[in-house]
Amino acid sequence: MATSHCCKDIIERSFGATLRRDNWWVEPLTMVVVLLGFVIYSVWRAFEHANYWGGPYLSPFYSPHFSVDLPRWCSPAFLIIWVPAGFRFTCYYFRKAYYRSFASQPIACGVGKPWKSYSGESKLLLFQNLHRFFLYLAIAFIVVHIYDLVKATRWPVSAAAAYTSPHHAAGPTEFGIGIGTIVILIDVILLTGYVSGCHAFRHLVGGCIDAPSRVFLGRLRHRIWRGVNVFNEHHNMWGWISLAWVGFTDFYIRMVASGTISLEFDRLF
Ligand code: FES
Repeated sequence: MATSHCCKDIIERSFGATLRRDNWWVEPLTMVVVLLGFVIYSVWRAFEHANYWGGPYLSPFYSPHFSVDLPRWCSPAFLIIWVPAGFRFTCYYFRKAYYRSFASQPIACGVGKPWKSYSGESKLLLFQNLHRFFLYLAIAFIVVHIYDLVKATRWPVSAAAAYTSPHHAAGPTEFGIGIGTIVILIDVILLTGYVSGCHAFRHLVGGCIDAPSRVFLGRLRHRIWRGVNVFNEHHNMWGWISLAWVGFTDFYIRMVASGTISLEFDRLF
């Protein structure tokens, strides 16, 4: 009886009221800072419409790159950036993160909310159901980024030869590795780990199966499903690290493209 009074008391308190003594506010505050910082940086980079390729490297913010005529105000990043943005925005884990940190719905367990009602993911939020379709596009993006990685190993044979556009060096090329190649490789690994642990991907490979041995390719699907579970268990970790690294990858390539880091310094062999 004492417990229910206590809970009622907390619920009816104002926003942020709690009996918790730990630093519960650190997590939502960190999420606001990191997510807001990433969004601001991404939008700025998309509008910048410059310094997105340097040497054999193409920024993931501009990949895949479409060579089409666009109005001056429109950057090619806007043609593709909605895919990773939509995929992460509708991700089950990131939903929880920004529902809590930005909408305070709820901001933390046992802490007073600013809203009294909760209607779930209805009305406008039904668009979150598009996540499975963003997944298909995200898988296609991984293939594109692997292509970018292969291209990041192709350097002009002649040091005097210049790149005329992303991935296109004038004259013959040879195999080479630079710091940027390694940065892109890590980006591909982290992105693959993040997508591999997606709840929709887990359902895609293993959902709606009662007995794997009774369906077509059941054993193979069961094996993949078990592999997906490994990534799914730490999906939030893959989500945060891959988010931070894709930002760093773009930042590094911007440094190369702008000449702050020279290709001579970047190339390892
Ligand atoms: S649930 Fe997070 S990427 Fe699909």
